[in-house]
Amino acid sequence: MVVLGLESSCDETGAGVVDVGARRVLANVIASQHATHAEYGGVVPELASREHLKNLKPVVDAALAQAGLSLAQLDGIAVTAGPGLAGCLHLGLSAAKAMALASGKPWVGVNHLEGHLLAAQLEHPGLEFPYLALVVSGGHTSLLEVRGPFERRRLEATLDDAAGEAFDKVAKLLELGFPGGPAVDALAGGHAGQGVAFPRARPKDGGAGFSYSGLKTAVRVHVDRSARRGEALDKAAIAAGFQRAAIEPLVRKAVEAAQALGLATVVAGGGVAANRLLRSELQRACAEAGLACRLSSPALCADNGAMIAYAGGLRLLDGQRSPWTLGIHPSLDECGSPC
Ligand code: KG4
Ligand code: ZN
Repeated sequence: MVVLGLESSCDETGAGVVDVGARRVLANVIASQHATHAEYGGVVPELASREHLKNLKPVVDAALAQAGLSLAQLDGIAVTAGPGLAGCLHLGLSAAKAMALASGKPWVGVNHLEGHLLAAQLEHPGLEFPYLALVVSGGHTSLLEVRGPFERRRLEATLDDAAGEAFDKVAKLLELGFPGGPAVDALAGGHAGQGVAFPRARPKDGGAGFSYSGLKTAVRVHVDRSARRGEALDKAAIAAGFQRAAIEPLVRKAVEAAQALGLATVVAGGGVAANRLLRSELQRACAEAGLACRLSSPALCADNGAMIAYAGGLRLLDGQRSPWTLGIHPSLDECGSPC
């Protein structure tokens, strides 16, 4: 089954074409809006919607051209229905419905996070369920037990900010530009030492959950104190120290959860899973614990249409269809299904 997937939940307009049964990406085209939002230091929802409106058709055309297929040759259409920015979701959903109506193809609305946690299967053909998934993006930081394409359970999530949000906020504080994650990653990578020692988050009850607000504040306090003392900021040391503190709990908790549940494989998805330190640390910790670690390439970690095509394609293969009345689900959680 060959499926076109549309992604427009935030600031990337993505269209991907995937052969679902073969787990093969035939096309994956992304129009990034980073330049539009850079001067504001974050995503401006109204501008993002306008960019999607402009980019959706060219991106779909480019994806079909890359796959060498016409709309008529597809077996179905999948589209992100949530979670995400309402106006942005509306544009992708409307485009998918219009294409489905015009072509008579079956279509399905997809949970964006399902795309992130299934994407690794596209590059690891042997990756089967169950597995432990770490979803780390601009909006989510979650550990999930994934038992099947539509069967999963949330184990832990962030108690405050998402990991990606923390990267973006720290980058803004250090004036590194937008989006912050790649900039912090690059700057920290060039720092030889351990960096500034920031405190690790300890949720109040000492138990479940991730927390990033305290770490973010610690970085701000450090920057303010340096400014008051007239000291030059060692941005690379701050980036390196922040990154280590941000990543350590992700790696530790992912491995602990997999071991506790007897899951042999750990998968990571979402934009922050492109981070080089997270990737190397997760691989190292999994190897030490005797677990398999399956990471997508950075292009499939970030928001993209191919992961939506794949996740939706699995639902279409299962016979699932969305009704024309399906609306957007901006606050959909990790385990929800919009279809
Ligand atoms: O999954 P994604 O593309 O969009 C959402 O669903 O939110 O994730 C975007 C987030 C942003 O916060 C961005 O700064 C972060 O992923 N990110 C990174 C890296 N690349 C992207 N964070 C850390 N290191 C990176 N290399
Ligand atoms: Zn995402």
